[in-house]
Amino acid sequence: MALWGGRFSGKPADAVFALSQSIAFDWRLAPYDLRSSMAHLAVLENASHISKDDAQKIRKALKELMNEVASGKFLPISEDEDVHSCLERGLTEKLGTLGGSLRAGRSRNDQVTTDLRLFSIDHMLILAQTMTELIEVILNKASEYVNDAAPGFTHIQHAQPVSFGHEIAKHAHAFARDVDRINDWLYRTSVSSLGAGALSGSSLKLDPVYIAKNLGFERSFENSIDAVSDRDYVAEALFITSLIGVHLSRIGEEWTLLGSTEFSWAKIADEYSTGSSIMPQKKNPDMAELARGKTGRLIGNLMSVLAMLKGLPFAYNRDLQEDKEPLFDSLDTLTLVIPAISGMIATTDFDRVKMKSSAPTGFSLATEIADYLVRKNVPFAQAHESAGACVALCEKLSCELHELTDEQFAEIHASLEPSIREVLTVDGAIASRTTAGGTAPSQVLVQISDALKKTLDQRKEIARKSKAFSEMMGA
Ligand code: ARG
Repeated sequence: MALWGGRFSGKPADAVFALSQSIAFDWRLAPYDLRSSMAHLAVLENASHISKDDAQKIRKALKELMNEVASGKFLPISEDEDVHSCLERGLTEKLGTLGGSLRAGRSRNDQVTTDLRLFSIDHMLILAQTMTELIEVILNKASEYVNDAAPGFTHIQHAQPVSFGHEIAKHAHAFARDVDRINDWLYRTSVSSLGAGALSGSSLKLDPVYIAKNLGFERSFENSIDAVSDRDYVAEALFITSLIGVHLSRIGEEWTLLGSTEFSWAKIADEYSTGSSIMPQKKNPDMAELARGKTGRLIGNLMSVLAMLKGLPFAYNRDLQEDKEPLFDSLDTLTLVIPAISGMIATTDFDRVKMKSSAPTGFSLATEIADYLVRKNVPFAQAHESAGACVALCEKLSCELHELTDEQFAEIHASLEPSIREVLTVDGAIASRTTAGGTAPSQVLVQISDALKKTLDQRKEIARKSKAFSEMMGA
């Protein structure tokens, strides 16, 4: 049903209606729209703008509609412009003209952004919960490989040997920051816009603070014009989802690379691989690639909302209707990607022997020589030169560092005594890196257990907020 028309001489042209219509995507806001209508009804009733009797009837009809929307009994029809008009049709079908009472003191401008905030909070909490599950999967996988050495890379060139558990665990820290970011975002997003009206507030006796509390928001808006035009929470949510995508894409890239024949470190489980329609031998890492590929659309969704917001003047403009599809798409995309990547990580096996045997190659222990000299009080610049000279000699002789003779070491630097061999082992090099957060297995174990503890705290906090949210929705 149309929510406007009094001052128009005719119905809008078909093309106008087609372009305006948002019901195909904003129908997802229905439960939140109904819940916020319930809160608005209480305000109108408390202010005696609606009689007790009428309020009772409307409340009953809203409850019925909530159930009918949940069960799929009440659905949009092609004449509905958006979720707000569709639900007003539902109320009017039950109550006659009384169904139009809730429009008092409320505009779709403050209504739509309230609905979208509620939707976003609900879904970002679900996302945060899923992320903590992914973090646990990563940390558990990391703990299987704490004592396994592998080459560590910079520039995809062998740099220094590391514990492979350390290497896997790094991804958990990136995702833990994303969960923190969702919590920070929740604080800023928890603002009710109802009472802002079209843009300037209302002459009716509304109670924005009551309504904020009723809907579980931390606060009410401070400036009604800002309240209806602010979509920072959408842009920020899309930044967070983009960054999660970037983090997932790095896993995708690593798994793809480590699973290649050239590396042959990662063995992705059959259930998380796909085949080729023409090459019978193929087993492809499509989940890893899709995690990498889908990140393009996550970033695209952020760009599309930022571009839509840029230069928007004064309060509500219809451009803002374009805020929803990118947000829905990004959340839906992560809902698909995260479980597939969690499963892929949980079921991947790494070739310990292969990783360990390539750990010392590429002269990855050269830093040990320099550090050995520093411990003998040789200035680092000189130590670096001498270690470099050892590498150059090995290249010339086609041998590895530990294969140089005592004489060859001593010739390069007098302080390179035979005890140098003690540091030229992968396990020794890794075990010696005991800096907090470093790669020594003793440190990696601490990192993993601290990270697991933090994840548990995050999970409890999210569960508490989710419970409060669903209690609010059911109230
Ligand atoms: N469907 C619209 C949106 O999503 C609802 C608000 C319409 N407001 C208006 N003044 N035309 O933004």
